[in-house]
Amino acid sequence: MKLADRLGLIPPYLFMQLRQKINKAKAEGKDVISLGVGDPVEPTPREVVEELYRAAQDPENHHYPTDEEKGMLSFRKAVAAWYLRKYGVSVDPATEVLGLIGSKEGCHHFCLAVVNPGDYVLMTDPGYPAYRSSILFAGGIPYSMPMKAENNYFPKYEDIPSDILKKTKAMFLCYPNNPTGACATKEFFAKTVEFAKSYNIAVCHDFPYSEIVFDGFRSPSILSVDGAKDVCVELNSLSKPYNMTGWRIGMALGNKDLIAGISKVKENTDSGVFNAIQFAAIKALESCDKHIQENIKIYNHRRKLVVDMLNKHGWNYTPPKGTFYLWIPTPKNMSAIEFTNFLFDECNVVVAPGSAYGQYGEGYIRISVTVQEDRLIEAVNRIDKALTKLTK
Ligand SMILES: Cc1ncc(COP(=O)(O)O)c(C=O)c1O
Repeated sequence: MKLADRLGLIPPYLFMQLRQKINKAKAEGKDVISLGVGDPVEPTPREVVEELYRAAQDPENHHYPTDEEKGMLSFRKAVAAWYLRKYGVSVDPATEVLGLIGSKEGCHHFCLAVVNPGDYVLMTDPGYPAYRSSILFAGGIPYSMPMKAENNYFPKYEDIPSDILKKTKAMFLCYPNNPTGACATKEFFAKTVEFAKSYNIAVCHDFPYSEIVFDGFRSPSILSVDGAKDVCVELNSLSKPYNMTGWRIGMALGNKDLIAGISKVKENTDSGVFNAIQFAAIKALESCDKHIQENIKIYNHRRKLVVDMLNKHGWNYTPPKGTFYLWIPTPKNMSAIEFTNFLFDECNVVVAPGSAYGQYGEGYIRISVTVQEDRLIEAVNRIDKALTKLTK
C-alpha cells in the first residue's frame, strides 16, 4: 500500500534503532532500565481517580462530551481560575480557553489552524519532535532556531534572516523546556511578543512543564506579558503536574482567533474529552496542589542522585530550574549516539540521545528522573561504574 507523501517527510525516529537493541537485550533476559521517557511513575492523585469513578457511573456522562470539542464550560472555568491563581493571568473561559486531548494535540491543531502550505514556522532546536511533525503535516516549512547553552537556551531572533521572516507565519516555544530544562524570564517573553507582533507571527507557547520547577522558581506564562493575547496561544496539560499522562487532557488559552481556529479543526476531527475525565481534571486543578509539591520533592531528590554521581566524575553540572529532565553534555567529545550506546552496552541503561531533538542537541543526552527511586539508584550505580572505566 502506498501511503501519503507527507508521512515520508517525517524524519526517522532515532529511538527506533535503540528500541531494537532494547528488545534484543530484554529477550536475552537482561535487566534494562529506561531513563529515556518522561512519564511519571507515581500514580494519579487518589481523589482524581475517585472523581472519575463517580462521574463515570452517571449515565448523563455517557454521551458525547458536553460542548464537545470545546470542553465543558465548568472545565474551562476551572482552567481559567487555575491560570489566575498560578500565573496571575485572566482569561475568558467562553472564548479564550479550549479543552484539549493533551497539549500534543494542541501542537498539531495549532498548525492546521494557522499554517498554509509553504509558510515558514520557527521552532527551537533542540525541541520536542512533535513540533516538526505538526509543521510538516500542515505543509509548512520548519525553521530551526538554535538553542545554545551560552545563550541560556533562548533563541536569538536577530539571527533569523529577513527573507525567512517575511515568509514566517508561526512559531513554537517551550519553557520550561523539553529537552534542556531551561526556563524563560518574563523579559524574554516580552521580547518574543514584541518580535512576533512586528512580523505578524502567531506564537504557540507549549507550557506543559509549567509546574515542574525547582528551588522556589516560578515559571511565567507568556500570557502574563502585556499584549501577548494579540498573538499568542499557550498550551498546558494535566499530564505532568498531576501524573495524568494516560488520561489525555489539556488546554489551550489565549488569543480568541487562534482558539476559535483550533476549535474549528477539533470540531472536524474529534468530539472532545469524556465528561468524566473532565470532572476528574477539575478536581485535580482545584484541589491537588499538594501533590505537585510532593512530586517536586521527589524529583529534586532524584536529580541530586544523578548530579552528585556525574560531578564525582568531573562534570561540574548544575541541574536546570525546570522539568524532570537533565540535559547532560557527553564526555570525551563523544557524539550523543555514541554515549547513548556506551551507556546501553555497558550498563543496560537507556537514555535519550540529544540529537533526537534536533541538530543542536548533538553532544548531549537527556536523562528523565520519572522512574522509581530504587531503579534510578541501580541505574546511577551502574553508570558510576561505567564512567569509572571510561575516565580511567
Ligand atoms: C514539550 C512537550 N509538549 C507536549 C507534550 C505532550 O504532553 P501531553 O501529554 O499534554 O500531550 C510533551 C510530552 O512529553 C512535551 O514534552
